[in-house]
Amino acid sequence: MRLLRPQHHIRIRVSGFNDSFIDIMDAFYRLLASVKGRYILECKSGNCSSFIELPSQEYQVLVAAPGLISTIKLDTETSAEGRLLPPPRGNELLWCLPSDTQYRQHRNYTRNEIVVGYCNDIAVTLDENALLRHLLIVGSTGSGKSHTAARIAACAHNLGFQSIILDWHGEYEYLLRSQGIRDYVILSYPNLPPVALTASNIPLEVSISVLERTLELSQFQSSILAAFLILSTTQDANLAKGLLNSLTNHINSNELSDIASILDQGNTISDLVYVIAKIFNKYRDEFSRAEQEIWLALIRRLNLLAASRYASLFIIKDSGYVTDYFLRGTGPIVIRLNDILSLRIRKLYAIYLINMLYSQAISNRLSKKLLVVIEEGHNILDNGTISELVAETRKYGIGFLVVVHTPRLLPELSEANFNTIIAHRITSINDRIIVARAIGLDDDYLLAQLEPGDVFIRKPGTKTPFLAKIALEKPCLI
Ligand SMILES: Nc1ncnc2c1ncn2[C@@H]1O[C@H](COP(=O)(O)OP(=O)(O)OP(=O)(O)O)[C@@H](O)[C@H]1O
Ligand SMILES: [Mg+2]
Repeated sequence: MRLLRPQHHIRIRVSGFNDSFIDIMDAFYRLLASVKGRYILECKSGNCSSFIELPSQEYQVLVAAPGLISTIKLDTETSAEGRLLPPPRGNELLWCLPSDTQYRQHRNYTRNEIVVGYCNDIAVTLDENALLRHLLIVGSTGSGKSHTAARIAACAHNLGFQSIILDWHGEYEYLLRSQGIRDYVILSYPNLPPVALTASNIPLEVSISVLERTLELSQFQSSILAAFLILSTTQDANLAKGLLNSLTNHINSNELSDIASILDQGNTISDLVYVIAKIFNKYRDEFSRAEQEIWLALIRRLNLLAASRYASLFIIKDSGYVTDYFLRGTGPIVIRLNDILSLRIRKLYAIYLINMLYSQAISNRLSKKLLVVIEEGHNILDNGTISELVAETRKYGIGFLVVVHTPRLLPELSEANFNTIIAHRITSINDRIIVARAIGLDDDYLLAQLEPGDVFIRKPGTKTPFLAKIALEKPCLI
């Protein structure tokens, strides 16, 4: 046996096979993949030969395969006798065999791309467009998702992006440091930027629907809330009057301006609860018993927020200065969400933060492109409104990098939302099937074979994904 490759791989031509091989063919190629072997078809002057290349110590994978004719010839022998071994279905280009596209990409590499990993020696890169058209990182626990996300967040400033990491578990300072990044900003409670429940350029339905879902409000409760929030944001007194009138019948202009000025001056959740309770107390005798219960339940739920130690993180309307938090320095900004111990409030905070970034972007208040890293993405994307924003943000210079461990929990893994998908090892069969389909991988089982840091990357415009090893310590630019 002759060693042909420096990594102790051997390349072997199999002289033939019989029908029993066909029955085990899929299992054979899976086993081959799991030992980092691959099938090669090589054609010279019209004569084609098939080879198996695998690490030399895994030689027995080949010997033990039923139906493979045991006269195994080394590729040094020239005769083309024997049958061609049927290729694995679909994925023969995957195993770091530099395909034409990858070669081309390598040769045309420009400084407008960052290197996320390598496939043998070929750099697998992402450009500005890939970041703005959103990335999804999927994988089971411990497969390397957060390391990959930190790598991309750390490299993104080379493409003119400010990375903002919504650090769900409080691990990104360590991750960035372990990748040699020192220029980062950590924002932690109580110094987290306050987020606004409303913004003049985001439809009120969007703002309300977040509260509605997170606080589990009924539609009637949402409409009460909407009436008060309209008053605080658009100052559209007639609309608010109309809404409040439909709730109370009697509200007068003085009361309206009184509410508006309390909300305007205070701008806190407590002020919101205060004005709602005030109107309720004044008109409660007019309400049926059921209506009273509904108002009281709304006040109770908002009070959960108002009375919590995190109340100061929420304001009613955006005062604009929040942008200052996000344009400090060039390194990634890590928002330590794990400091918010209540999961419900953590989620609410994260969603409003994204809302606010979006609002800042559409009003052109951001001077840089943003890459927003969202860990535990299903918590945030299960809210339909945020999924819609994600689809919109590209044109305003915000890209999302969403990390999920259970893709099944995402409402939809649509190509429209995520142009680049980076799939780490996935053990659950249901998740594998979803992801394999999304990335164009025929055999979902390959996803179960990956080691930490190994990924399949499906980039826009490619039919099959690339296999790569995420490069944690190598430079972002070649
Ligand atoms: N590119 C890589 N190369 C080598 N090892 C890696 C790579 N990425 C991650 N690892 C290793 O894999 C382990 C898990 O990494 P990481 O915490 O990023 O996984 P995860 O998918 O985010 O896990 P969890 O779902 O628990 O958050 C770490 O011990 C890390 O050292
Ligand atoms: Mg993680």
